Amino acid sequence: MSKLDQEVCRKGTCSAKWNAHHLRQIPDDAIPLWVADMDFPVPPQVTEAIRKRTEHEIFGYSLVRDCYRDSIVGWMERRHNWQLEPNWIIAVPGVVPAINLAINTFSETGDGVLIQPPVYPPFSSSVLNSQRTLVTNPLVLRGNKYYIDFADFEQKIIDHQVKIFVLCSPHNPVGRVWTKEELQQMGEICLKHNVLVVSDEIHHDLAFSGHRHLPFTAVDERFAENTIILTAPSKTFNMAGLQASNAIIPDSALRENFSKAASSWGLAKVNTLGLVATEAAYRHGDQWLDQVLDYLQGNMEFVRDFLARRLPRVKLVEPEGLFLLWLDFRGLNLSVEQQEELLVHRACLWLIQGHSFGQEGAGFARLNSACPRPLLQQAMEQLEEALR
Ligand SMILES: Cc1ncc(COP(=O)(O)O)c(C=O)c1O
Repeated sequence: MSKLDQEVCRKGTCSAKWNAHHLRQIPDDAIPLWVADMDFPVPPQVTEAIRKRTEHEIFGYSLVRDCYRDSIVGWMERRHNWQLEPNWIIAVPGVVPAINLAINTFSETGDGVLIQPPVYPPFSSSVLNSQRTLVTNPLVLRGNKYYIDFADFEQKIIDHQVKIFVLCSPHNPVGRVWTKEELQQMGEICLKHNVLVVSDEIHHDLAFSGHRHLPFTAVDERFAENTIILTAPSKTFNMAGLQASNAIIPDSALRENFSKAASSWGLAKVNTLGLVATEAAYRHGDQWLDQVLDYLQGNMEFVRDFLARRLPRVKLVEPEGLFLLWLDFRGLNLSVEQQEELLVHRACLWLIQGHSFGQEGAGFARLNSACPRPLLQQAMEQLEEALR
């Protein structure tokens, strides 16, 4: 039995995942497999670094030190074979705030901003809340894998004079880890039409074996002139609540403008414990991550196998990474309300309904599989029982 099989009770800890049922009219006993955090404790070195820092007992404003940046540079080199300069890194409190900041700083009201639905819902809300025009290049499902329609991608950029493309790489929720060729083709089109690429790479460390994540500017150094990469240790090490993320911007003019805007928006300060935890995770988290990745891949295979053998009408879109599984319920022919009734009230599961990721997601649901396998098994059995 793996250590990760052990359930850690998160009830009563203010965990959004485990304690928000009443806010969303979800039955109290529904198994929460929705928001994207994991039910696993962080690497012990992270806990230890936080414990040590709290002993100091003063939590004033913190500086981002060289050793913080160096820990990120070392991680990117080791894990992604990516050489970056420490001064490219700007610490920010979150990836979503950084997306909003980039949209507001590098485009004007009404400008087109392109996304690829079905995709993480704050992408569209960031565009719409900023009074930009939402332009979509829907991903295309062929077999059980999603692809990019490049002709549509370029045409939409031309037709809507798109200024910014918000890329999700790897992609939440469809689980693609984009190939070099796919990234290259998107990057060439964006260069040609002078489109800024905001590449959200928050899931970068979570590629399954056989797949390799490529940082966008590592694909082609020419892409550095029009790219902002957003990363964080939050998904990798399960520390979203510590609110420490990083914008990585090789181009000095882009970086300066982003940095000025971050200061004026009050987004230049990062949580003190977040900085400490990030550095510890990036310095010491390799072994922990390798074990967790193995376990996550095992969870994914468990769900794939369960569906194939016991629930063949529900299909798993084959994921290449991430702990978020995109389940295709279209074979059941249910309305949005019927699917909600099935999942929440009959199966007693709290998943995210597919239409939240854009209309292209209707008929799907996203299941967060980063939990102990016995709980995942219970969830799948409840689904089987509900469908009987
Ligand atoms: C693609 C993507 N971007 C950003 C976030 C959240 O980023 P943050 O909490 O740093 O704002 C998530 C969380 O699930 C995500 O999946």
